[in-house]
Amino acid sequence: MSSETLSNLSHEDRRFPPPADLAASANVKADAYDAAANDFEGFWAAQAERLDWGQKWERVLNWDNPPFAKWFEGATINASVNCVDRHVAAGKGDKVAIHWVGEPEDDTRDITYAQLQDEVNKATNALISLGVEKGDRVAIYLPMIPECVFTMLACARLGAPHTVVFGGFSADALASRVEDCGAKVVVTSDGGYRRGAPSALKPAVDDAVAKLAGGEHAVEHVLVVRRTGQDLGENGWNDDVDKWWHDVVDGQSSEHEAEMHDSEHPLYVMYTSGTTGKPKGILHTTGGYLVGTSYTHWAVFDLKPDTDVYWCTADVGWVTGHSYLVYGPLANGATQVMYEGVPDSPHKGRWWEIVEKYGVTIFYTAPTAIRTFMKWGREIPDKFDLSSVRVLGSVGEPINPEAYVWYRDTIGAGKAPVVDTWWQTETGQILISPLPGVTEAKPGSAMTPLPGIDADVVNDEGESVPDGSGGYLILRKPWPAMLRTIWGDDERYKDTYWSRWPDVYFAGDGAKKDEDGDVWVLGRVDDVMNVSGHRLSTTEIESALVSHPKVAEAAVVGATDEMTGQAPCAFVILRESAIAEADEPGEGGDLVQELRNHVAKEIGAIAKPRQILVVPELPKTRSGKIMRRLLRDVAENREIGDVTTLADSSVMNLIQSGMSGSSDE
Ligand code: WTA
Repeated sequence: MSSETLSNLSHEDRRFPPPADLAASANVKADAYDAAANDFEGFWAAQAERLDWGQKWERVLNWDNPPFAKWFEGATINASVNCVDRHVAAGKGDKVAIHWVGEPEDDTRDITYAQLQDEVNKATNALISLGVEKGDRVAIYLPMIPECVFTMLACARLGAPHTVVFGGFSADALASRVEDCGAKVVVTSDGGYRRGAPSALKPAVDDAVAKLAGGEHAVEHVLVVRRTGQDLGENGWNDDVDKWWHDVVDGQSSEHEAEMHDSEHPLYVMYTSGTTGKPKGILHTTGGYLVGTSYTHWAVFDLKPDTDVYWCTADVGWVTGHSYLVYGPLANGATQVMYEGVPDSPHKGRWWEIVEKYGVTIFYTAPTAIRTFMKWGREIPDKFDLSSVRVLGSVGEPINPEAYVWYRDTIGAGKAPVVDTWWQTETGQILISPLPGVTEAKPGSAMTPLPGIDADVVNDEGESVPDGSGGYLILRKPWPAMLRTIWGDDERYKDTYWSRWPDVYFAGDGAKKDEDGDVWVLGRVDDVMNVSGHRLSTTEIESALVSHPKVAEAAVVGATDEMTGQAPCAFVILRESAIAEADEPGEGGDLVQELRNHVAKEIGAIAKPRQILVVPELPKTRSGKIMRRLLRDVAENREIGDVTTLADSSVMNLIQSGMSGSSDE
């Protein structure tokens, strides 16, 4: 983060107080902060009352053995029962849980809570018939179709942790995740619709299954939803493992008696990029996670389940889709929209058409999408009636004040509060955010920690910085939806998150407290970048590049990008044998294309470097550490900073001279 960004913040003096009517009827009022501060455990115990438990807890929080927390110790609960059955039992069976909208126009499905219950139970019985038992892992690699939600809730019902892998990830990325958590069943579909055309998923599963075959983590069954009806190819079906969803699920009984699981029973593993090449399997457990997500969904969006229509545009393949599309909203008995496709298919007003059609009142999306709509122009949303919208949310990356104000004005008619919600895969729930009925919000600031959350900004010594200064964003106290560990690697969990300062969680983000003490999240301070709100590690992309036979060494940095927030830029040194082909540094357009495709194959299209520069050397310190800061200067076309710690300061001249011939697609 540059000093310019820091000083710009102090020029921001726009303030947006809550609308009076919203403030008057808000779910959460200002007194919640004090209530939580005065009785931390009592506050979270009170929030837990919104759920149905089997056994009640003996202890709200067990933090005897940090950083291993137990929330609602001794209690039992079933997440699926809380998200589905209890609403039906309360007489809300006919209420719509999900207005599902397929990408092809007129391909829609309204699913009531009673129907959701039937579908989840059938899916549960189907998983049982495939041999899935409590504790087994199930991988889900699906587009945004209802079966994805059914499967997640079926897994939760059984106590078989799911791992949802984003459909944009490659076969290799899928295989490594399936292997790491040892999933024995993969649920997928033939494909999904993207930009008006069927886009295949099953072939990637086939490759992943083939890769793992015969090994310790061979996949036993692949359950395939027929979504597009596309051709699976000559070798696209293996009777030994592949089963159609309609063959296995449709005939199942819609009754299933759910078992209550321990509050700390694993609910899911979600893989996310860290500072090393190997993605981390973030483990979330049941009771605390549901308390954290349902409370924040109700508080931050001011959800009124009987009248609101909520829409979170995130893909279920990311944590936002888990916490604020599946578990939080469904636990709260909300009515929501779920949309399969992209915002501009078949036209750039698709999202707003959906908002108008369903009367969406609460809308939650990412800054990268908002910036894209800004670029397309307000004439597009202006064609639709968006007057139902009353709360707007943002997540995934810092929202620049211009995008915030545009969002508020254009989508929120200049009155809907924008809640800029800061959180992470690891935190499971929103931790820092305005409350729409309480906070006088500033554009670009996530404002203050929510009630019951103890967040701060500290310096290198771990001391709280004074208002007006920047530092590292940390958490001092556990919170209910926190990660419990990294799947299979307690040591890595401790080292990664809790080792910088004793018993303090370090999130990897830098932040500033302004003069009023409000928090401005500035982005990652580690080797993680944020591309369109998706986390990617520089090391992961570097490993992908180095796995190409022509590459000897690679360094990747996240460079500022107007649209996507950050974009991966790569600097590669070729192997001797490949240098002849790319005769000059920075040249070799074909090779660059080949390397970009290689990264897409190894990780997924989202990880494709925006730029790849072939260089003769990388800037390194005497101890051999790559000076990414300097490479970032190059990637962002800035003047090169201090090079005095370089072992050989002339390399920067070489790299810069190569820049002129850089290939940028
Ligand atoms: C960034 C997504 C600024 C941050 C829920 C964090 C944000 C990472 C915000 C987590 C926000 C998320 N303002 N930055 N409101 N929300 N981030 O794990 O860098 O995909 O560490 O979770 O996104 O990304 P993740």
